[in-house]
Amino acid sequence: MWVGIDVGTGGTRALLVNEAGRVLGSATAPHDEMRMQQPLWAEQEPVNWWDAAVTAIRAMLAQAAIDPAEIRGIGLSGQMHGLVLLDADGEVIRPSLIWCDQRSQPQVDFINNKVGAGKVLQWTANPVLTGFTLPKLLWVREHEPRNFERARHMLLPKDYLRYRLTGEFASEVSDASGTALFDVVGRRWSFEFMDALGLDRALLPAVYESTVISGKVSAEAARLTGLKAGTPVAGGGGDQASSAVGNGIVAPGIVSCTLGTSGVVFAHMEQVAYDPAGRVHTFCHAVPGKWHVMGVTQGAGLSLQWFRNQLAPGVAYSELTREAATSPAGSQGLYWLPYLMGERTPHLDAQARGGWIGLTARHNRGDLVRALIEGVCYSQLDCLEIVESLGVPVSSVRASGGGATSPFWRQVLADVLQRKVVTLETQEGSAYGAALIAMAGTGYASVPEVCGAVIREEASLDPQPSEAYQKGYQVYRALYPALKPLFSKM
Ligand code: XUL
Repeated sequence: MWVGIDVGTGGTRALLVNEAGRVLGSATAPHDEMRMQQPLWAEQEPVNWWDAAVTAIRAMLAQAAIDPAEIRGIGLSGQMHGLVLLDADGEVIRPSLIWCDQRSQPQVDFINNKVGAGKVLQWTANPVLTGFTLPKLLWVREHEPRNFERARHMLLPKDYLRYRLTGEFASEVSDASGTALFDVVGRRWSFEFMDALGLDRALLPAVYESTVISGKVSAEAARLTGLKAGTPVAGGGGDQASSAVGNGIVAPGIVSCTLGTSGVVFAHMEQVAYDPAGRVHTFCHAVPGKWHVMGVTQGAGLSLQWFRNQLAPGVAYSELTREAATSPAGSQGLYWLPYLMGERTPHLDAQARGGWIGLTARHNRGDLVRALIEGVCYSQLDCLEIVESLGVPVSSVRASGGGATSPFWRQVLADVLQRKVVTLETQEGSAYGAALIAMAGTGYASVPEVCGAVIREEASLDPQPSEAYQKGYQVYRALYPALKPLFSKM
């Protein structure tokens, strides 16, 4: 048996699988709400993640009622890009600036001026973005010099969990790729970049391929969680690479579309290739020696979550999508821009803002929700088109994440992307993928072999031809450039 643990944004999930990939137990413990003290800020407490992990692991073990000694390995997954700073005693210095924190545009500009955007692309295969870890570190250096001076270790969210579980300071290639400090082609830290910015190399943890065993559960962590001391902990993966393993995206051809808080189009690459404009990310895959490319919609599930929380409190998502289904394709001329947290693909613009365009007094709530779902799908089409332009073949799309649990949303996705949309028997996302990585890491088989043995397709939806979406996409694409000059004035 193997365990996968995923530090999400909303909560931490622990899950137990057997050799056949069957889930024997799982539990999620919620996190405190992320703190957004200013419009572009987003922070969480790492210790809160650890507490949630302890609760989730205990609940999972209780549910499965197994002897923890039977667990052969643990894989870790987590929200990417977050900055966790620890002092010499391993204490957290300040709350984590998490993946969707967008405050660091001045630091991104500083890096591009000082080092040069071309050099950055050469060193890391990606441009530096406001969401990535490095500019967050520079923000702390600039605004909180005392906190910066105390910092001895920088870690990613799941790697903080690893530290609490094993005492090791370590990361792995897929998550490290999203720091902006990683040489994605060479699969090692870019010490050149650290040096060019005057940063201490010693801040960085050891980095492994995702399947490598990075440490063992400590006696203290065993006491807190109920796991057995000495259980091996594999590198694991960033939540997107882990989710891709869980979706079997470990060979060319099939791409995944994960509609979580963010929406991600993800494809496997045998050879590294990157978009010179940096609109999609080229990162190391959790499959040793391979890469992946992904395009990200910042506000996918977040769009509907925001709508529900602010404008339809207490209404079930299923009721909202039922209403949406009563509106015709194209939402009666209404459009949604999902830029609630700026946008990554294709605009790379932290200042982009969301909203409905085209409202008339005739529109009802169903139209509002349908437009919102269509807008997120158009944004995913933006991602898919760039992925394909890199020469990555796309035969079908495997959908997962909260949004994909809605058959209505999946059909809109199929019709907008004009691809077959497939769902899998096990839709357990990142925690499941992390468990499969642990399986590979403890010598059971390679990552693609594990996926081949345990992942089964369940249902598939064929795309319906849709003129409304074809036309709609043209309008959608014209909206951002038209509004862009205004966003910075808002
Ligand atoms: C990936 C990304 C998100 C976060 C949160 O680049 O930012 O997927 O990892 O889930």
